[in-house]
Amino acid sequence: MPRVKSQTCPLARSNPASHPYDECMPTTISSEPEVTSPPQDSFEQIKDLESQYVLQTYARYPLALHRGKGCYVYDLEGNRYLDLITGIGVNSLGYAHPRITKVILRQAGLLLHTSNLYYHEYQGRLAERLAKISGLQRSFFCNSGAESMEGALKMVRAHGNAVGAGKKGSIVAVENSFHGRTLGALSITGQPKYRKDFEPLLPGARFVPRNDVQALEAAVDESTAGIVLEIVQGEGGVYPLSESFIRKARELADRHNALLVFDEIQCGVGRPGTHFAYQLLDPVVLPDILIAAKPMACGIPMGVIVANDKAAAVIKPGMHGSTYGGGPLACRVALEFFDILDELLPSINTVGSYFRMKLTELMRQHPFIKEVRGHGLMIGVELKFPGKQLVLDGMKEGLLFNCTHDTVLRFLPPYILTEPDVDRAIAALAKIFKNAKPPEA
Ligand SMILES: Cc1ncc(COP(=O)(O)O)c(C=O)c1O
Repeated sequence: MPRVKSQTCPLARSNPASHPYDECMPTTISSEPEVTSPPQDSFEQIKDLESQYVLQTYARYPLALHRGKGCYVYDLEGNRYLDLITGIGVNSLGYAHPRITKVILRQAGLLLHTSNLYYHEYQGRLAERLAKISGLQRSFFCNSGAESMEGALKMVRAHGNAVGAGKKGSIVAVENSFHGRTLGALSITGQPKYRKDFEPLLPGARFVPRNDVQALEAAVDESTAGIVLEIVQGEGGVYPLSESFIRKARELADRHNALLVFDEIQCGVGRPGTHFAYQLLDPVVLPDILIAAKPMACGIPMGVIVANDKAAAVIKPGMHGSTYGGGPLACRVALEFFDILDELLPSINTVGSYFRMKLTELMRQHPFIKEVRGHGLMIGVELKFPGKQLVLDGMKEGLLFNCTHDTVLRFLPPYILTEPDVDRAIAALAKIFKNAKPPEA
C-alpha cells in the first residue's frame, strides 16, 4: 500500500528552520565497511584481560574474532572460518551484508534512539510487517529473547488474573525446553541444570515430557493461564515438537481459556524455511502469543512479542515497557532484513535440505552418528558421545559450529549459505568424522 504524506504531526512547526546539526548528516555512504584496521591486541592479551575483569560465566572457545564477510569470519591472524553457528543464530545474513551495513550507517547518521516517549517512522511499519507474516495482530518490541519471554509471561499472568479470580496461575511448559536466563523465563525452562541455583522461582510451572499428548492433557486444567511451547527445542538438542502435540496444546488452551505461547526465538524468523516454524504445519496452528528475537535485526539486539487481539487486550497503557525496545536503528534494520528474507526463503529450504541430505550420507558412513534432524537451516547431528572435541577439530579445519545438550552438533548457518558452501562444510566434516575417536574405540 503506498504511504501518503497527508497527516502532519500536531506539534509540527509550520516552517521548521533547518537544524544546526543538519550538516552532520551523511550525504554519501559507501556500502563497503572499513575492514582494513588490524586488531590492536593479541589473543593472549584479550583472554588475560577478560579473565581478570569479566564475570566468569562463559566457557569460551579459544578463538577471538576480528571481522567477517558473507558466510565467513576471520580471527586476529586473518584465518578464515566458514560460520555455521552465526553467533547462535543471530547473524542471519552473515557478515557485512551490503544492504544491512548501508542502513545501519544511514540510520546512525539520522537517529539511533528515541525511547518510547516519542514516535518514529519504523516501529509501526515493522509491527505491520509482523502482523502480515505471522497472522497475529500486535507487536511489542524489546531487546532480547529472554526479555520477550518475560513480557509474554506477564501477559499470561495478567490474563489468568483477569479471567480466573486468583485461581488461574499455572503455566504448562515442556521438559528439555530452554526459554532464557531471567527468573521468569528460567521458571518455565524444562532443564533443572539451568534452574537449580536460583530457586525458588515463579510458582505454578508444570512440566510435561516432549510430545507426550496424554501428559499434556493431564497437566492442563482450569487453573492453567498459559501453555508455552518451543516449536523446535534448540538448546535442548534440536528436537522438533510433534504436530499432534502442538495441535493438542491449541485445543487444550481453547478448552480451558489459557493463552498458547510459541517461543520461536531460535527456531523462527526464516530459519525453518517459512517465516515461523508453526507455519510448517498444514493447516497452520496459530498461537495467541509468539515471541521471536535472534535473526531479526542481524546482530542489533531486538526481541518481539506478537499477540492476537485476545492476548493483546490484557495489556493496558503503563503495564509494560522498555527504554530501548523498538528503537529506530533496530526497527529499520529489521525492516531491511524482512525485505531480504522474502527473497531468501526458497533457498533456505533447498540449501537446508541439501545440507541435511549430505549429513545423512555422512551418517551412513559413521555409525557413531545417531540421527540428523531439523528444518531448513536449523540442523542437529546427534552423536553417541559428547561432541565438544569435534567442535574444536572443526575450528582447526576452518569450520564454526557448536555442540548443545552434550551430544548434539548444532548448525545454525546464515540464510545466505549456498550449496557450494555446504560442499565445503561437508568436506571438512568428513575429515573431522574420519579422525574422530569415539570414547569406546
Ligand atoms: C528458544 C529460546 N528462548 C529464549 C532464549 C533466550 O534468548 P536471549 O539469550 O536473547 O535472552 C533463547 C536463547 O538461546 C532460546 O534459544
